[in-house]
Amino acid sequence: MSFPTRRLRRLRISEKMRELVQQTSLSPKDFICPVFVQEDLQSRVKVQSMNEIERLPLDDVNDEVGTILDLGIPSIMLFGIPSIKDESGSSAFDDNGIVQKAISQIRQNFGDKIVIMADVCLCQFTSTGHCGILHNNKIDNDLSLDTLAKTAVSQAKAGVDTVSPSAMMDGQVSAIRKALDDEGFSDVSIMSHSAKHRSNFYAPFRDAAECAPKFGDRKTYQVPFTNPREAMMEVESDINEGVDIVMIKPALSYLDLIAETRRRFNVPVSAYSVSGEYALVKAASQLGYVNEKDITEEILYSIKRAGADMIVTYFAKSAAKFLQES
Ligand code: PBG
Repeated sequence: MSFPTRRLRRLRISEKMRELVQQTSLSPKDFICPVFVQEDLQSRVKVQSMNEIERLPLDDVNDEVGTILDLGIPSIMLFGIPSIKDESGSSAFDDNGIVQKAISQIRQNFGDKIVIMADVCLCQFTSTGHCGILHNNKIDNDLSLDTLAKTAVSQAKAGVDTVSPSAMMDGQVSAIRKALDDEGFSDVSIMSHSAKHRSNFYAPFRDAAECAPKFGDRKTYQVPFTNPREAMMEVESDINEGVDIVMIKPALSYLDLIAETRRRFNVPVSAYSVSGEYALVKAASQLGYVNEKDITEEILYSIKRAGADMIVTYFAKSAAKFLQES
């Protein structure tokens, strides 16, 4: 007598059956779309290393946000490129800074139809290109906290929903939370780049945001990609400091950490599919080695499958288009 065989092909027999048993979903609602806005820019500038990504002048921001919302994407992540950089990163917390202006303009035009998130970091704003303030040639963690907190408060005044600290300074979430609460912004949420790794996948972003360190590297503050338990300690610290949403960054080479975070904690988990992940797909598809749409879809589904609730991705607009069509 032969035993019945488990035939999983029965669940794959037709398009409709496959839809019925599909275990992971992907929607434009899962996306947070990065937007780069540059001070004193006359017209859009293409980012050399990131096909189809542009830096925008302030005047173009509302148009861009309109396009993003029309595609069903609920949220943006703003990055600013200021005209003036100095040692203390002062244009980061200027109430009339480029990010602050963009936030208030978007808020005025779109009200609560959008979740406005903004990067809170200093590397675009410091002459050193480092994410913190230098003192005696070393990053001064606690001095930097003060500047990060001021930056978050100035973004809150402009009307941001969610501040997103990416500087990897120890204690940045509690410093920002305290400053926001003290200034009456207890409704502004924090999505921290909790486990942001010292990654080679950020290279194209540094071209997009002009924020490469002028000397040295970010090894003293970003998580080594060899240390998964250290990454979990970062996530745990941020939760203890009162973070609202944690982030694992990058995404594709760090799916294990997304899954681990989802298993261990109950906070919403975001994943940042970074510039290098985008550039690899774009370059390979331009050479005809892979199909861009198919590969993008598979990558984004993998990030969701690992356990991310939301994805910051440069594919947001193109993926929303093909998801709307399918
Ligand atoms: C800077 C910052 C970086 C990214 C986001 N914020 C670069 C870095 O840490 O060097 C990378 C994002 C990407 O590569 O898409 N705080």
